Amino acid sequence: MILVTGGAGFIGANFVLGWLRDSGEPVLNLDMLTYAGNLDNLADLRSDGRHVFVHGDICDRALLDRLLTEHRPRAIVHFAAESHVDRSIHGPGDFVRTNIEGSFTLLEAARAWWASLAEAEREAFRFLHVSTDEVYGSLGATDAPFAETHAYQPNSPYSASKAASDHLVRAYHHTYGLPVLSTHCSNNYGPFQFPEKLIPLVINNALQGKDLPIYGDGMNVRDWLYVGDHCAAIRAVLAGGRVGETWNIGGWNEMPNLAIVRAICALLDELRPDPAGPRERLITFVKDRPGHDRRYAIDARKIERELGWRPAETFETGIRKTVAWYLDHGPWVQRVVSGAYREWMERQYGR
Ligand code: NAD
Ligand code: DAU
Repeated sequence: MILVTGGAGFIGANFVLGWLRDSGEPVLNLDMLTYAGNLDNLADLRSDGRHVFVHGDICDRALLDRLLTEHRPRAIVHFAAESHVDRSIHGPGDFVRTNIEGSFTLLEAARAWWASLAEAEREAFRFLHVSTDEVYGSLGATDAPFAETHAYQPNSPYSASKAASDHLVRAYHHTYGLPVLSTHCSNNYGPFQFPEKLIPLVINNALQGKDLPIYGDGMNVRDWLYVGDHCAAIRAVLAGGRVGETWNIGGWNEMPNLAIVRAICALLDELRPDPAGPRERLITFVKDRPGHDRRYAIDARKIERELGWRPAETFETGIRKTVAWYLDHGPWVQRVVSGAYREWMERQYGR
């Protein structure tokens, strides 16, 4: 089996569902169920014996040691993190704890366990670290997209904490020989994304006739990738990536935020017209995010060349699927927004 951390969050849940659909290999899913972790995302697996869910913290070394010894995963895919830039600005402490201390604890547990394996198992073992393009900092309008060799220039507490974890992962390979793989992906969108992030927030607000808040002038550029394509890229890296290497993952799809918001408004107007008029009327420019990175763009040629991965979705197909998913999953959104899913977890797991 494989051990996935953070598999109840947005990308982790998409990864676990896709993994079990495509490969069938069992998954041990370790997640602390922070505000961003949601077992509703994994509801389709409730009676699936191939999915073992453990409610726990990657900072808990004793738990990690026990899980590794009991379940003997052949690989660890490490998603668990605090992931929202705005929250890192208001409270960086949780980001330092989970993204740095948690990754360190996981690396230490993995190192000790890996060292105890017989040679064939040790050779086959992989630790895949899921990082972000934000560690490279911000690009100017005419700069070349981020290659894997780009200097680290993190600008937010979130990206700084991810950068710190990347450096630890690299060091564990160079110093101890731990067979690590690292990925740096651009902005994801798709089903199960918590509605604090731009795309689900705009869909949710637009459906409720609320303002659509755009930071600054709305011309910050991100390179958007459908989450299913990110998961496929991670599977490709895990299956064929050379140990100790890093791969940038992106959709060749740079768009300014304002264009994203307009595209969502147009799709909602088409799929669920608003009698009050076109949703673009709700667009509201608000105070900018402090230290807001201007542009991210990914040079994804290495993963294309070496592992044959390319995104299957264009932005047009991916955003249409995503908007349709949110329209079809109103109760999911309501439970997240109302906090009702947290009550369910309290009932299910207690304190
Ligand atoms: P998310 O916030 O939706 O999910 C994070 C998950 O980690 C949640 O289920 C949460 O409960 C769990 N978690 C948090 N702290 C934990 C801890 N101490 N122990 C165990 N579990 C814990 O995040 P996401 O958007 O799915 O991102 C997943 C990973 O991918 C992160 O490492 C993020 O940095 C990276 N990433 C995200 C994007 C993106 O666009 N969302 C892009 C590139 C990389
Ligand atoms: O690039 C990868 C990163 O993408 C991941 O590592 C992060 O985990 C993920 O959260 C995401 O970070 P961003 O800060 O780019 O995503 P967010 O959805 O918060 O914002 C996208 C852009 O939209 C950004 O330029 C800020 C802007 N924005 C965001 C919100 C929430 C707004 O204009 N208004 C908003 O209300």
